Amino acid sequence: MAGERPGSAQRRSPGRSAAALLPWIAAASLGACQPILDAEALRDPRSCAGCHPDHYREWSGSMHAYASTDPVFLAMNARGQRETGGALGDFCVRCHAPLAVALGATTDGLNLPELGADLQGIGCGFCHSVEAVEGTHNNPLALASDGVMRGPIADPEVTRAHRSAYSPLHDRDSLDSAALCGSCHDIVTPAGVPLERTYQEWLGTLFAHDDPFQRLTCGGCHMDGRDGEAATGGPERRVHGHTFAGVDVALVDFPEAEPQRQAIQDQLDTVLFADLCVTLRPEGWRAEVTLENVAAGHSWPSGAAHDRRAWVEVAAWSGDQAIFRSGEVADGQPVVEVEADDPTTWVLRDRVYDSLGEPAHMFWDVASYESELLPGPTALSPTDPQYTDTHVSREYALGAQAPTRVEVAVHLRPFGLDVIDDLIDSGDLDPVYRERIPTFTLEGGALLWTEELGRECVDPG
Ligand code: HEC
Ligand code: HEC
Ligand code: HEC
Ligand code: HEC
Ligand code: HEC
Repeated sequence: MAGERPGSAQRRSPGRSAAALLPWIAAASLGACQPILDAEALRDPRSCAGCHPDHYREWSGSMHAYASTDPVFLAMNARGQRETGGALGDFCVRCHAPLAVALGATTDGLNLPELGADLQGIGCGFCHSVEAVEGTHNNPLALASDGVMRGPIADPEVTRAHRSAYSPLHDRDSLDSAALCGSCHDIVTPAGVPLERTYQEWLGTLFAHDDPFQRLTCGGCHMDGRDGEAATGGPERRVHGHTFAGVDVALVDFPEAEPQRQAIQDQLDTVLFADLCVTLRPEGWRAEVTLENVAAGHSWPSGAAHDRRAWVEVAAWSGDQAIFRSGEVADGQPVVEVEADDPTTWVLRDRVYDSLGEPAHMFWDVASYESELLPGPTALSPTDPQYTDTHVSREYALGAQAPTRVEVAVHLRPFGLDVIDDLIDSGDLDPVYRERIPTFTLEGGALLWTEELGRECVDPG
């Protein structure tokens, strides 16, 4: 995901004053005839596919399309409604199927499977109708009902399908666009716990910057630019990816499964920089592993970090004798199980607790959290007062015997199997989904130190 810097040759010039006139110009040139797509058609992504085939294809495989058909989501919401006696209300579904809530088609998400495809997930019509962001978390987005599709193009071709207008909320070069994405990517639970903080994290990084050369918004990294048509037959422009790949994969049959998985792997391979130093100290041999988040504009992992399980595996040998192992997790084994047996296991995640201080899994039980994530960068130069060192290290005591080979790997499961098991045990989730949870291994975290190298430290470069 090459962050396309604002100010690059391809940059569009929004021209605010012209943009303000656009709805009027578009309406005037349409004359008396109504746009073809009425309110109902505008909220159905399938009605966009004919003219915006690439946007449709990419979006159809995204987690935005999947958000309200995700079996784990449906299971958790159902359990939440039951365990809170309905007090959860529309809390979950207001982000996972915002249009269904806005239209009054659901109040608690329990009837989602009966609703039509046009009301599922976060669709085209939802994002492209946002006219204002009225808060920083829990989806405070206000929708226009004027039928205008808001987007990044200052001079859209007139189409009979819909009216169009430029909006800074939909322009990745504008800081405002991060407020649109961020206000859903930041969750404060009904009990007041800031459980998912991607937007707050981003605001603390060097990317949330007034200087357009330093600025990278959510879209700046997550919506890759390429040259092509924004609509079939339209002029060549800079258009933007709609795969919204992160770390989650669909657990049911879903479009675009392979391209999504590949996009996730590609991002994961380059998100970290790792190094490893093997040294002899008076106390014995030590392996020091250092990780740095070099590409995410927020912590890594981020967002649902209470559900993610990222961990570091370290193994040392002397000849062919294994002398040390940490973070060795078998297929299908929950990471927490290994962690409980071996305190040297390095796990990157949020740990969440209920009001009694016991480990919790479910949003509505969470009273506090402890965060162990790789932070996003705050400044480029160590002399900058904003700079905080983002290298996170762990030391492993290998013992007295000299190692000849030390290997490191970093893995991520988008969803902890302990959380999945909890949902299966409560009868809310079908056990078939358990084995579909992937385990990714990050190329940037793969390190090999050998005695023959003749030096203490190695990195993948
Ligand atoms: C009959 C063809 C057609 C259909 C159907 C259609 N569009 Fe468009 N749309 C266009 C054209 C043409 C443009 C202008 C493209 C350009 O100028 O490069 C456009 C532009 C846009 C823009 C950019 C607006 C801007 O100013 O940045 C958005 C967003 C958009 N459409 C969303 C949608 C959505 C969502 C749907 C489905 C609900 C949809 N369109 C259906 C033809 C269509
Ligand atoms: C500098 C580039 C950059 C910026 C800016 C950025 N991201 Fe990311 N984001 C990444 C990378 C790289 C990843 C890691 C890929 C992964 O973990 O699969 C990621 C991962 C994610 C994930 C999945 C995280 C997880 O672990 O669950 C979400 C959700 C996300 N970003 C949303 C956002 C939002 C919302 C914003 C703006 C507030 C944003 N990102 C800004 C680069 C960026
Ligand atoms: C999560 C919100 C979101 C969803 C869902 C979404 N879009 Fe977009 N879309 C955006 C943003 C943000 C941009 C602007 C990117 C930029 O800065 O140029 C955009 C840009 C566009 C553009 C302008 C051309 C371009 O690529 O920049 C078109 C056309 C478009 N989207 C159509 C669609 C269609 C059709 C769908 C559904 C199949 C859809 N979008 C779903 C947020 C969304
Ligand atoms: C209406 C609320 C909403 C808005 C607005 C929104 N998102 Fe999302 N986004 C979600 C939800 C909900 C999911 C998770 C769906 C799931 O996995 O079930 C998600 C998933 C994602 C993922 C994949 C995360 C993963 O771990 O796989 C990325 C990346 C992402 N969004 C980026 C963006 C960007 C960039 C924008 C702005 C252009 C944006 N989102 C706007 C609600 C929203
Ligand atoms: C403020 C908007 C918002 C609210 C409220 C919300 N979610 Fe989400 N949800 C998201 C976003 C954004 C993601 C993607 C996060 C990421 O990838 O880091 C997500 C991801 C998920 C996922 C899939 C990813 C994962 O691994 O956790 C599940 C399941 C889920 N949410 C369940 C729920 C349930 C159940 C509730 C209510 C108790 C809820 N969400 C409330 C925005 C929201």
